[in-house]
Amino acid sequence: MLTDTQALHCARMCEHLTALIAADGWLSFERFMDTALYAPGLGYYSAGAHKLGVGGDFTTAPEVSPLFGACIARQCAEILRALDGGCVLEIGAGSGSLAADVLSRLETLGALPHHYWILEISADLRERQRRHLERRLPHLLEHVRWLDQPPAESFDGIILANEVLDALPVTRFRWHREGVEELGVVTDKGRLAWETRPAGPAVVEACRRLAKAGVAWDDGYVSEYCPRLMAWTRGVTQSLRTGAALWLDYGLPRSQYYLPERHEGTLLCHFRHRANDNPLLYPGLQDITAWVDYTLLAEASRAAGFTLSGFTTQSFFLAGLKVDLEMKAIAGGDVNQFARLANQARQLMLPGEMGERFKAMAWLRGMDLPLSGFALQDLRHTL
Ligand SMILES: C[S@@+](CC[C@H](N)C(=O)[O-])C[C@H]1O[C@@H](n2cnc3c(N)ncnc32)[C@H](O)[C@@H]1O
Repeated sequence: MLTDTQALHCARMCEHLTALIAADGWLSFERFMDTALYAPGLGYYSAGAHKLGVGGDFTTAPEVSPLFGACIARQCAEILRALDGGCVLEIGAGSGSLAADVLSRLETLGALPHHYWILEISADLRERQRRHLERRLPHLLEHVRWLDQPPAESFDGIILANEVLDALPVTRFRWHREGVEELGVVTDKGRLAWETRPAGPAVVEACRRLAKAGVAWDDGYVSEYCPRLMAWTRGVTQSLRTGAALWLDYGLPRSQYYLPERHEGTLLCHFRHRANDNPLLYPGLQDITAWVDYTLLAEASRAAGFTLSGFTTQSFFLAGLKVDLEMKAIAGGDVNQFARLANQARQLMLPGEMGERFKAMAWLRGMDLPLSGFALQDLRHTL
């Protein structure tokens, strides 16, 4: 049941989408997703929905436990030490929990970055991040800067993004032996509805490339690919001179991404902590995501001049970064707190929870360094 404010917001977004659909009679799903998430003043990320945590729509790893940020800080410290200092750029910082956990652990590790930049698209989340950091780490606030664009000057350090790549708009297609169709959105009796059209040359070419790379789809197979991922990752990593990019998200290597059982694709939407696979529901009010094709992300690393340094599951990433020691350090002898952290670690690491669906990938540029987060399990051969 929507509140009056939510219903009004949704109605305004639907009006906007209807106008876009009217221009051509059809809106590609990629443009629909872009609009539903990012339309100025209306999109899920550009308007004022609560989004993360209790009272929001979904929970991310940093919202589950400070252990996640503490382990990421250990990985960052290793890299910052090898660089003799540097900056951290976090993309899409959500509530600010990850930034606060990373900064506070980096401080105790004696490895604070010169700057902690946050590239955040959502104005209300920026405000929430600022308040969160002001409350938890007022003395470190001078290290933090919010950016509208990736830094203009080149820098050494780390780029970090947790659960951001899954929000990049994707193209949705249906594969047939005799041709490819693209899925888009129309209005039908005043409601949003799916409609397919013969795919244009760019989509046909992208699907042919995937098929040539060994993916075998049955007739009628529906899935997605992210046409912006290469250009977007190149853009946000452009000014990193020496250092690492660390990507964490749910996703799979391509050979598993396009398995027959995923014949309806990987779209996943969240509204009030309920997951669904219908992005046409509540436009502007619900988060829309697609799983990350990690093979494409690995290809993007080479295209952007990086070396692919590591790929593993979230579970092995956290274990490699000594999550057990972080539990002891945070609990500080308090057995109840230790038990709470142990439960949180289970949620982050068990295969049926976030441990296997979520992966970590590291790219290195201008440096060669074994990274502890990737020492226990190397899944690069699966890409
Ligand atoms: C699912 S939340 C994850 C937040 C946080 N990283 C965490 O793990 O809790 C996605 C975040 O990325 C931001 N975001 C989405 N698309 C973005 C983009 N293209 N550029 C920068 N930030 C983006 C959102 O506003 C939000 O802060």
